[in-house]
Amino acid sequence: MRVIAVADYEEMSVLAAEMIEAKVRNQPDAVLGLATGGTPLGTYRHLVESAAARHLSFRRVKTVNLDEYVGIPASHPQSYHSYMKENVFDPLGILPENSHLPNGETLELTAECARYDKLIQELNSVDLQVLGIGQNGHIGFNEPGTPFNSSTHVVELTESTLRANAKYFKGEKQPVQAITMGIGTILKSKEILLLASGSSKKEAISALMSGIRDENVPATALVSHPSVTVIADSEALAVE
Ligand code: GLP
Repeated sequence: MRVIAVADYEEMSVLAAEMIEAKVRNQPDAVLGLATGGTPLGTYRHLVESAAARHLSFRRVKTVNLDEYVGIPASHPQSYHSYMKENVFDPLGILPENSHLPNGETLELTAECARYDKLIQELNSVDLQVLGIGQNGHIGFNEPGTPFNSSTHVVELTESTLRANAKYFKGEKQPVQAITMGIGTILKSKEILLLASGSSKKEAISALMSGIRDENVPATALVSHPSVTVIADSEALAVE
């Protein structure tokens, strides 16, 4: 695991955007695994600016997202479909037929999980997977205790995750379930880039840095992966 310590959110975002850009430049038909949440927003913003300035095309890029809420429509402003359309797909010109998220609206959730795993397999796995990290160490929506060999599945969100994401729903009814790529699915990615910023992530990052795989901290599954880069700022690394 390569750890790159940066000063702050901005530096993390610039560096992460450069890494994604380099991947697409070298491999114009790359499969990017993408994350939502507040952490990668700055990365996406820099990527959009840089791609426009340097005329980098994303028309052949394919994307698969980590997760989506269950029980809200894709058109809901807080759905991950909406987040991706607004911050990534439309501004980067990623084609609708090339961008994939789990369908959290279906009543056939088990079949949807199987479909999503098959889709990733057919894409010949993810070339570069971008990850954030939850305060409790979750990746995607894989909450503590999720087996490290898990495939795409439905999860009940924990109190910690519901609290952390409540700000996005502002008193509105909040989804309590999600579909997420499993930890096993994430580990099949050829390369992984995990981003962490802010003091609320320091416990999770310190567990990851311990190098001990522990199913109570989902991100520690990455310790066994051959190609992981962590970009973390001074607050997440608890460096004064
Ligand atoms: C959400 C997402 C994760 C994300 C995490 C951290 O629960 N499902 O993919 O990494 O929260 O979010 P944030 O970056 O806003 O701290």
